[in-house]
Amino acid sequence: MATTHKNNSLAGPEGSDVMMVRPFKIRRMIKETDDTFSLELGPRDGTRGFSFEPGQFNMLNVFGIGEVPISISGDPTKTDELLHTTRAVGTVTKAMKKLKVGDTIGIRGPYGKSWPVREVEGYDVVVVAGGIGLAPLRPVIYYLLANREKYGKIVLLYGTRTPEEILFRKDLEKWRARFDLETFMTVDRATGDWRGNVGVVTTLIGRAPFDHLNSAAMICGPEIMMRFTVLELQKRGLVDDKIFVSMERNMKCGVGLCGHCQLGASFVCKDGPVYRYDQIRGIFTKREL
Ligand SMILES: Cc1cc2nc3c(=O)[nH]c(=O)nc-3n(C[C@H](O)[C@H](O)[C@H](O)COP(=O)(O)OP(=O)(O)OC[C@H]3O[C@@H](n4cnc5c(N)ncnc54)[C@H](O)[C@@H]3O)c2cc1C
Ligand code: FES
Repeated sequence: MATTHKNNSLAGPEGSDVMMVRPFKIRRMIKETDDTFSLELGPRDGTRGFSFEPGQFNMLNVFGIGEVPISISGDPTKTDELLHTTRAVGTVTKAMKKLKVGDTIGIRGPYGKSWPVREVEGYDVVVVAGGIGLAPLRPVIYYLLANREKYGKIVLLYGTRTPEEILFRKDLEKWRARFDLETFMTVDRATGDWRGNVGVVTTLIGRAPFDHLNSAAMICGPEIMMRFTVLELQKRGLVDDKIFVSMERNMKCGVGLCGHCQLGASFVCKDGPVYRYDQIRGIFTKREL
């Protein structure tokens, strides 16, 4: 399977400078969980719409505080809304959580390689998400469902630590009701009235309905989760060039200039964040590279 997934070109939106920060207005703020929120944004500079490929990210600038890479979590078929889902963990993301509807945020992007949604046409697609990892994968689900006839089975396996950390509940309800999408969820620890599966997300792989000879997998979550997910998929017979993972590293420029995001011989901002597993197998299995 070729990896021709789309990369950012040197020209930015509408031929502008790739590093140009565009002002966006916060139209809506959605509380997803206690520490995770989604921002719906609209351009403030007179331009219209925002196109991206599933898996790409933007650099979000909270003015006066700093800039962070955040994946685009919305529907790639809707160019009139830009959505980002962020977990507040540190300086910039906590400041972002305090912003209000009507405030302005700086955006540059989209950057990075996308999930190979076109290359896997004709295959069963297994999407495996852990925690906030569902955010970069939600555009994949939207895209696959918008082009449903082009794919075999579509399977979503989603795990969180507790039921309270489940993201995008409305989407999940809709997806679970569909007959053309198999959704399986699990939590590490059951709390409240959770009656569903308990155990790490990898425990779902053994019974997931897909044809290993004709499947591709897309995985996003903590690195330890991705490692074990790859092992389980390999046990099910998936080959490494049909497994894709999304990597995270600290970033500064986002466009392959500063070297902050180096991963082996590659730069995550430019050569990733989505990698075909066989291309990073060596470094993926070594910690802290
Ligand atoms: C390509 C790419 C896409 C990303 N997409 C998303 C996304 O869609 N949603 C999202 O919430 N995040 C995403 N991230 C991670 C996000 O960029 C970081 O969480 C953010 O840069 C942290 O910045 P900060 O200033 O808030 O925290 P900092 O002040 O830099 O860090 C504060 C503390 O938080 C810890 N920390 C930093 N990052 C994380 C993390 N990811 N998880 C747990 N602890 C952390 C640090 O180790 C440090 O101890 C993505 C990262 C990359 C590289
Ligand atoms: S963030 Fe600068 S090279 Fe990737």
